[in-house]
Amino acid sequence: MNLELFDDFDTAPVTSELLCDGAMVLRRFALQDGKDLLAAVDAIAQHAAFRRMETPGGLRMSVAMTGCGAYGWISDRSGYRYDSVDPLTGLAWPRMPHLFLELARRAAAQAGFDGFEPDACLINRYEAGARLSLHQDKDERSFDHPIVSLSLGMPAVFLFGGLQRADRAMRIPLMHGDAVVWGGPARLRYHGVLPVKASPHPLAGDCRINLTFRKVT
Ligand code: SIN
Ligand code: FE2
Repeated sequence: MNLELFDDFDTAPVTSELLCDGAMVLRRFALQDGKDLLAAVDAIAQHAAFRRMETPGGLRMSVAMTGCGAYGWISDRSGYRYDSVDPLTGLAWPRMPHLFLELARRAAAQAGFDGFEPDACLINRYEAGARLSLHQDKDERSFDHPIVSLSLGMPAVFLFGGLQRADRAMRIPLMHGDAVVWGGPARLRYHGVLPVKASPHPLAGDCRINLTFRKVT
């Protein structure tokens, strides 16, 4: 496709790239909603602040996290889990904005997973140097639903591996507006993010924001 045909890059079409059976990148999927998504993240963070959680092993994560929806993902000395209460405030997590839900449903459907109704959105904030080591998303009650990820702000390299930690990982550059969906046979693939390089983004400034949508219960 010839992108020069589109004088406004924001209106360039969504294209999809199959990573493996069950996993797909949707380029530019959320590009037009980037501004609204970032404003919604700011509003959420006023009630549930970004925090760098501790791992069960006692290390401080480089990525700062918050969340919205019925459940939030938590890591501390006692392990990883979902909770309906934000331990920082003792209150429920902020509601999931309708725009989040609508985009998550639509991305899942485009990747072949109809009927996705996420009840949690983990919001990750990466400053330059922050990284996420290879892991599986496996704290959810069932793996029948996909994971939907939306990336905003500074670019990053997403690592997408196999079902074993030692499997070779693909390196996938993710830009502002890109979505990744993995489910079905790909649901438990290891994934992570290489240390993010500083490259200030016009809307997000010095950070990368990633939203991952999950169906927890
Ligand atoms: C995650 O695995 O929770 C986030 C992935 C990403 O930041 O792209
Ligand atoms: Fe993950």
